[in-house]
Amino acid sequence: MRPQQFENPSPAAELPASAPLVDSFARRIEYIRLSVTDRCDFRCVYCMSEEMHFLPRGDLLTLEELERVAAAFVARGVRKIRITGGEPLVRRNVMQLFRGLSRLSDKGLRELTLTTNGSQLARFAGELAECGVRRVNVSLDTLDPEKFRTITRRGDIGQVLAGVEAARWAGLKVKINCVALKGVNEDEFLPLVEWAHGRGMDVTFIEAMPLGEDAAYSIESFLPLDQVAAKLAERLTLSPSTHASGGPARYFDVAETGGRIGFITPLSAHFCDSCNRVRVTCTGELYTCLGQEDKTDLRGPLRSSDDDAALNAALDDAMRRKPRGHDFVAQASGELAPSARHMSLTGG
Ligand code: 5AD
Ligand code: SF4
Repeated sequence: MRPQQFENPSPAAELPASAPLVDSFARRIEYIRLSVTDRCDFRCVYCMSEEMHFLPRGDLLTLEELERVAAAFVARGVRKIRITGGEPLVRRNVMQLFRGLSRLSDKGLRELTLTTNGSQLARFAGELAECGVRRVNVSLDTLDPEKFRTITRRGDIGQVLAGVEAARWAGLKVKINCVALKGVNEDEFLPLVEWAHGRGMDVTFIEAMPLGEDAAYSIESFLPLDQVAAKLAERLTLSPSTHASGGPARYFDVAETGGRIGFITPLSAHFCDSCNRVRVTCTGELYTCLGQEDKTDLRGPLRSSDDDAALNAALDDAMRRKPRGHDFVAQASGELAPSARHMSLTGG
């Protein structure tokens, strides 16, 4: 890892490199989601189009640059890094990055985690655990092999389930993320919860967000999660949990199973006021809000000098511009145009 540059603070940076990242609404940024690739071996209907055009590999930040960005954020007080994609585990040599990031624990990083579709977990779970990863989020919307193939357009559920098992064997705490889709997986929420809780895994349901060229799909299949909660409550006893993961989910304890259910409701009850995170794409664009277009280039500053002054100045500039919140509701109702950006670019 590069040494920190505290000895020679550059006059270009308005703040010393150790200044915490605080936006103009006094929200402190302690969490980054770092996308390492826009590619994926699946093509989930709410995430990608059938014919995706992926970025030329040369546009991507190198693994060394990704590590340098992460280190710069940690020096500014970021405590949690979630590696995302696309599917992060399809990026070549991604374990080199995990090994590098694991060393940031000496610099104040408290948690290194990832969101994955699980397809490569059987191969990498052990190494991830060795790098200090303790928890993984695995995206799984259905347990039905046919439906799984339809939603992912090509995925093999057997491979994902093997990945989940491998992760559990490696001692990783697995959380299942399920996008609730009207008329698609509605009938499966209870079995999914029972299956996951039976294996010591929590489940988080997510409302489909109108993102990308296929935003229409997410709008058509949008299911407000209060309906999901009401349906689950017919069979399970849910009580509000004190658990907080540092993310946007609200959790409930389930008396019958001893497990937890989370709800992420970007549309029906947005949580922007307590937003503590930003996202960095695999090309080094910093998005301070998933639902807004405003972005800050970090690749230029990264490549302009080995010194982090320009990078830090870019971070400060982005903090000043972080928007108050997203406009998903207006976008879903047609009042505003949905973002053309795919989730696979900004990081799920
Ligand atoms: N709305 C909600 N969740 C989405 N994901 C991908 N696209 C969308 C969308 N449009 C989820 C995936 C996965 C994570 C990476 O983001 O299901 O859990
Ligand atoms: Fe791949 Fe995840 Fe997007 Fe599905 S949701 S296409 S698994 S990145």
